[in-house]
Amino acid sequence: MHWRNLSLLLVLAARQISAQIPSVKFFTVSSSFFIVDSSIQIIVDSEYADSGSPTLSSFAQTFRDDIISVTGFSNISSVQTGSETSSSEIPTVFLTLGASDSSNLTLFNGQLTGEGYEFVITDKLYTIKGVETIGAWWGTRTFLQQVVLSITNGSNPATIPTGEGTDSPGWEVRGFMLDVGRHWFETSFLADLCIYASFFKIQEFHMHASDYIYDPSFLYGVDWRDLYTGFRFQPPSDSPIFGLVPELNESWTQDEFTALQTTCSNHGITIIPEIDTPAHSLAITKWKPELMINGTPDLLNITYPETIPTIKSIWDALLPWFTSSEVSIGADEYDESLADDYITFVNDMDGYISGTSGKSIRIWGTLEPSTTESISTNVTIQHWWFPGGSIPVQLMDQGYSVINSDQVFLYLDGKTSDQDQFPWELNADLLWSGAPDGKGWAPNIFSATDPTNNTSIDNPLLRGSIMAMWNDWGNNATTPLEIYYQLAKSLAMFGEKTWAGSDVRDTGLAQDEFERLFPILNAAAPGQNLNRATGLPPSAQVFHYDTVSTFPLQTSFESVGPPYTFSFSVKPPSNGNSSSPAVPLFTGLDSIFYLESMTFEDPSTKIRYDLGVDLVSDTFTSVEIHATLNHTYALLNGSSEKLFWMSNLDIWGEYMKLVNMSFAAPSYIIGADGFAGELVNVSLKLG
Ligand SMILES: *[C@@H]1O[C@H](CO)[C@@H](O)[C@H](O)[C@H]1NC(C)=O
Ligand SMILES: *[C@@H]1O[C@H](CO)[C@@H](O)[C@H](O)[C@H]1NC(C)=O
Ligand SMILES: *[C@@H]1O[C@H](CO)[C@@H](O)[C@H](O)[C@H]1NC(C)=O
Ligand SMILES: *[C@@H]1O[C@H](CO)[C@@H](O)[C@H](O)[C@H]1NC(C)=O
Ligand SMILES: *[C@@H]1O[C@H](CO)[C@@H](O)[C@H](O)[C@H]1NC(C)=O
Ligand SMILES: *[C@@H]1O[C@H](CO)[C@@H](O)[C@H](O)[C@H]1NC(C)=O
Ligand SMILES: *[C@@H]1O[C@H](CO)[C@@H](O)[C@H](O)[C@H]1NC(C)=O
Ligand SMILES: *[C@@H]1O[C@H](CO)[C@@H](O)[C@H](O)[C@H]1NC(C)=O
Ligand SMILES: *[C@@H]1O[C@H](CO)[C@@H](O)[C@H](O)[C@H]1NC(C)=O
Ligand SMILES: *[C@@H]1O[C@H](CO)[C@@H](O)[C@H](O)[C@H]1NC(C)=O
Ligand SMILES: *[C@@H]1O[C@H](CO)[C@@H](O)[C@H](O)[C@H]1NC(C)=O
Ligand SMILES: *[C@@H]1O[C@H](CO)[C@@H](O)[C@H](O)[C@H]1NC(C)=O
Repeated sequence: MHWRNLSLLLVLAARQISAQIPSVKFFTVSSSFFIVDSSIQIIVDSEYADSGSPTLSSFAQTFRDDIISVTGFSNISSVQTGSETSSSEIPTVFLTLGASDSSNLTLFNGQLTGEGYEFVITDKLYTIKGVETIGAWWGTRTFLQQVVLSITNGSNPATIPTGEGTDSPGWEVRGFMLDVGRHWFETSFLADLCIYASFFKIQEFHMHASDYIYDPSFLYGVDWRDLYTGFRFQPPSDSPIFGLVPELNESWTQDEFTALQTTCSNHGITIIPEIDTPAHSLAITKWKPELMINGTPDLLNITYPETIPTIKSIWDALLPWFTSSEVSIGADEYDESLADDYITFVNDMDGYISGTSGKSIRIWGTLEPSTTESISTNVTIQHWWFPGGSIPVQLMDQGYSVINSDQVFLYLDGKTSDQDQFPWELNADLLWSGAPDGKGWAPNIFSATDPTNNTSIDNPLLRGSIMAMWNDWGNNATTPLEIYYQLAKSLAMFGEKTWAGSDVRDTGLAQDEFERLFPILNAAAPGQNLNRATGLPPSAQVFHYDTVSTFPLQTSFESVGPPYTFSFSVKPPSNGNSSSPAVPLFTGLDSIFYLESMTFEDPSTKIRYDLGVDLVSDTFTSVEIHATLNHTYALLNGSSEKLFWMSNLDIWGEYMKLVNMSFAAPSYIIGADGFAGELVNVSLKLG
């Protein structure tokens, strides 16, 4: 290659390489390439193989699976343990620890962070050196993104420019919160969310695990027990708090939770569990009504003698489940007139939880004015709103550690929000240019309009940020995958802003660069398949059957994500058979379709969404189902009339709101044993 072409390539390559999500802080490129072919091997430094939790070796195993996922090389060699010099002519990724460059591997507040790492890339050796094992893990995410971007750019095999660099996050806390209290999720879905988020170097999953669905006409009346509540940790039957969780089918056993927690931590993500008291406590008062403040069943009376011991007994039972060093006790939206009691309660819980488990606590920022009491500065405060909430810059001035979850920038609600208060996904324009100075958002920005409400990036009491995905309307507002669709790009944007910041270094991604990179990295994110991608090109035919004579017929596609067109002609049986349970016409991992009333079921929540249309028996009707991320509709007999599957949401008892539902294709099993009708021309096409 001519030297000028080579150097031009290198300049372009360097730009491409630092342009990742999140951006890498420093990368100086030299004049050659590391080639990622199927002979690539991973060597873990024997000196550090068992260091950390998870260990460097265990991170390396996951990394190997991820290399297979992004390159398609199924035959790469097993992870080895050894020393750097054992590398040879074979392209080698060497994972080690000991990075300590305290001028570069720091948070923006100047503290050295275990999440930092250095990398040195030569022709045959790609060394990733973490400060701690977690730093080396993030270094492997950087490597994978470099591989993905090189392959997407037509390089086969992938090539990575040689050179060296350092990288570290701007802030310690870079988390996402999911409201799993108002919406039930299986742990398999939550595990996939952790794996996906970790590709963008997010390190915390804040799990809002208990709550209820607010509707004042029930809450303050005789039917308050009919409001939906969720408390997701299922105590064993011999536990003193067993009665707290009657919904066994919508809670996780300790084994299920532990497996989830392990999957997340194997991907660098810590679960921060939240059990919300003394407000939002309807699950507790359904169990022990005597603990409520009379007339307000969601509020616990914390001066009633049995209340605090009950809350402590809940934590006693559950603290042993959690491996995090911090938990959240919620503590938001309590009665302001009881501020002194509230503050006493928070301090009591802080002392109790740290005393019994060594864990520290977080609370949501809540204005509880008191002239005599104050919350211990050992409690981290998670700011979420103005003006009723406490003011973060003032809190930091008073010595509190603060996490920014400001709702203007960082709140989402499942499917929709009341009066469109929150966007469908995080607002990119706001994150790139919504700060008071017209530059981008970062965790130090609390207000889009008032510069006095933000702080400097190096404020040592600003721990970072958590974006939040609420589920105010409960199970029937969204399928789990619809939650992912709202989070997919949001998590990537958030990962960029909380790692690289805005306006502080010139290495951050411009908005248009982010928009270009995101679809590529989203499609390649390893370890999960939340897109329910088939691996086929856009518009491909996934399958087609002229006739299906024996039911059930199994395909090789468990579920296929939107956009797709699923079409078939069906002749329902003449006897109707409506008294017997409906048999599914199509079944997939994420959706089940019944002919009766043209109904989709979400198998995780068991909720059914029908079209209210019954096809004429003994005659063929052709059906085309079209789905995008935002909706699913049917066309019958080639008509142009779109029949949408919808849900009707009860917005806080104030009004009803019709919303569209998006279903993945029920592509796995065609027909069922009892199906007595006829089915022809079954076809699934992407797009
Ligand atoms: C892996 O498989 C590919 C394709 O079959 C082959 O070309 C390559 O040599 C194999 N690599 C190794 C390290 O075995
Ligand atoms: C691929 O490289 C070219 C320059 O060679 C660049 O313009 C383009 O944006 C790159 N594409 C990706 C997906 O990185
Ligand atoms: C360390 O940081 C400086 C800027 O402060 C940068 O110029 C340098 O390239 C960094 N060193 C490495 C090895 O990344
Ligand atoms: C809470 O319980 C105590 C003790 O039973 C009682 O005196 C008090 O009035 C209750 N507080 C509220 C706000 O209901
Ligand atoms: C904060 O925690 C430390 C260590 O647990 C403890 O010694 C101290 O008393 C606590 N401070 C307050 C104000 O609670
Ligand atoms: C900003 O902070 C002030 C107090 O310093 C407060 O009164 C005001 O409501 C805050 N509002 C916003 C949107 O920043
Ligand atoms: C935020 O506040 C800090 C500290 O007052 C100030 O230095 C900075 O310019 C402000 N930045 C923005 C984007 O408002
Ligand atoms: C759990 O059981 C309740 C009560 O029978 C039912 O309403 C709910 O739909 C069930 N949830 C799931 C996920 O099966
Ligand atoms: C579709 O067309 C057939 C006649 O070709 C008719 O018998 C059937 O009722 C139609 N179905 C619907 C839902 O319109
Ligand atoms: C889905 O709907 C949201 C909110 O209306 C919109 O922002 C988004 O672009 C839509 N996505 C697609 C793929 O249509
Ligand atoms: C969804 O649930 C709400 C109660 O939370 C109920 O009012 C509404 O009818 C349900 N909608 C559907 C389509 O099931
Ligand atoms: C009705 O459906 C059931 C399956 O749910 C099947 O076993 C039964 O044979 C059907 N009855 C008739 C009369 O088709």
